[in-house]
Amino acid sequence: MTKGSHTPGAPWRNFYGRIHGKTLRPTQKDHLEHDLDALSPGPVGWDVNPAREKLDLDARFGGKPVWLEVGFGGGEHLVHMAKSNPDIAIIGAEPYINGVAMLLGKIRDAGVDNIAVHPGDVRDLFDVLPDGSVEKAFLNYPDPWPKARHHRRRFVTQEHLEPLLRVMAPGAEFRVATDIEDYVRQTLEEVPAAGFGRIDHPDDAAWADWPSTRYEQKALREGRRPHYLTFRRP
Ligand SMILES: C[S@@+](CC[C@H](N)C(=O)[O-])C[C@H]1O[C@@H](n2cnc3c(N)ncnc32)[C@H](O)[C@@H]1O
Repeated sequence: MTKGSHTPGAPWRNFYGRIHGKTLRPTQKDHLEHDLDALSPGPVGWDVNPAREKLDLDARFGGKPVWLEVGFGGGEHLVHMAKSNPDIAIIGAEPYINGVAMLLGKIRDAGVDNIAVHPGDVRDLFDVLPDGSVEKAFLNYPDPWPKARHHRRRFVTQEHLEPLLRVMAPGAEFRVATDIEDYVRQTLEEVPAAGFGRIDHPDDAAWADWPSTRYEQKALREGRRPHYLTFRRP
């Protein structure tokens, strides 16, 4: 549940980011209207699944391993991963509707059929993902919340990491990319505290299959250095 509406029975989950940006183009509205329903991973919202029944991922994705991207922004990383890994299915969660619309255009252009989209808060998705069902998870350039009093809004807090650990399969990899030094600090404190193990990279190197993202390009233009952190669920 994001700000603006609240389904009776649903927990109050404050979402501090943006849901709407500039006016959508007619083609984007058309994609949202015609493509989004078929891309649903199943009943996620509290309005359609008040009992919080777990999703039947095998039925939805034909038994393929399931990956998850939290906050996919414009969707470039999500589409890249789907295209280069046709044998997996990847679910993206993103409440920013302009980002969702951008992704839908990219899905059409790329012709990929192994992406599902939850156009909302990933915490609602966590509720209904079966335990141990996610083989890989990505958190790319999460909202930095630079002020100390806002650090508790960051994704790398136990409120998000505990359910993430629960839905990840034993041995599954969790990747975090960020350009914010203090976000690295909090990630290295909080993610192991939630039960993940750290995997070291030489020289903070990017993953071999890393395509970069819009936010990373902005960070590089503005002279900030990317950091790539990898964790594993024991
Ligand atoms: C700084 S942007 C980065 C976007 C993209 N990953 C990239 O690298 O270009 C962070 C994104 O995370 C999304 N986000 C924040 N909280 C979220 C949540 N609880 N569930 C899903 N997405 C979330 C925001 O809407 C925003 O689009």
